[in-house]
Amino acid sequence: MAATALTLLLLALLPERHVLATAAGDAHPGYAGAEADTCGSPPSGGGAAGRRHGPALEEYGGGRIVDITHAYRPSMPAFAPGATVGPLVRLKASMEDGSEYNLSELRMECHMGTHVDAPGHMNQAHFAAGLDVDTLDLDVLNGPALLVDVPRHTNITAESMESLNIPKGVRRVLFRTLNTDRGLMWKAAGDLSYVGFTEDGAKWLVDNTDIKLVGIDYISVASFDNLISAHVAFFKNADIILVEALKLDNVNTGLYMLHCLPLRLVGSEGSPIRCILIK
Ligand SMILES: *[C@@H]1O[C@H](CO)[C@@H](O)[C@H](O)[C@H]1NC(C)=O
Ligand SMILES: *[C@@H]1O[C@H](CO)[C@@H](O)[C@H](O)[C@H]1NC(C)=O
Repeated sequence: MAATALTLLLLALLPERHVLATAAGDAHPGYAGAEADTCGSPPSGGGAAGRRHGPALEEYGGGRIVDITHAYRPSMPAFAPGATVGPLVRLKASMEDGSEYNLSELRMECHMGTHVDAPGHMNQAHFAAGLDVDTLDLDVLNGPALLVDVPRHTNITAESMESLNIPKGVRRVLFRTLNTDRGLMWKAAGDLSYVGFTEDGAKWLVDNTDIKLVGIDYISVASFDNLISAHVAFFKNADIILVEALKLDNVNTGLYMLHCLPLRLVGSEGSPIRCILIK
């Protein structure tokens, strides 16, 4: 009965595609509970009460702000076939065990979930030069950005890049791919058949566009077969920032103000990053 009431409420509150998205989320039992907790809250609901771990849009301010960061949760895909991340936040001291306080510790690779790659990730010269995440240019990470849909039948090759006709002058592009359609970030297991840039696609972007921020919807911008070569192509000049595993489900394509803020992890070539779009 509660489920029926919830469905009716959703139908009343949300445009059709949001309902479809929620239905898709229900296909992943791990999140059914989390979704049910919060689906009834107003679309503009923020804070813990508005938390939705599923592909539905996460909006604040009546739709003015869209969260495109994945929640860091234990069942996120890890970079190995079939692997998941495991517990990330765990109580180090717990009141249940007699402590006077609850105190959690965070344990994760710096390239888990929504994260940024610094130029030193796959370029030893940049790493040696100290180009860690703490040196990333906040001007590149914050500003107008274009969200585009990449042709679904291919990885992001030079041909695919060319077909997108991204105008000169565009500095930040978020590439939505087949990965979002396949719900790969919602599957609790790494899937290395994800879509990403091929080496020639990365080279084409570097040589023919003004793009300095590249965002993508799975854990690497580079397709698995081009994992190293495409990163190396992007990092040639150390002026391109790669943001990976963005949550682009159900966001309309178009132009937004993008805000991305990495943690200031000194010496690290990667960092979790919070990214939002503002309309
Ligand atoms: C502290 O953690 C315990 C689990 O050990 C939980 O039951 C309790 O609600 C937490 N208390 C606070 C104040 O967060
Ligand atoms: C993209 O490349 C990966 C290998 O890197 C492959 O498994 C996948 O099928 C390709 N996807 C498409 C749509 O061509």
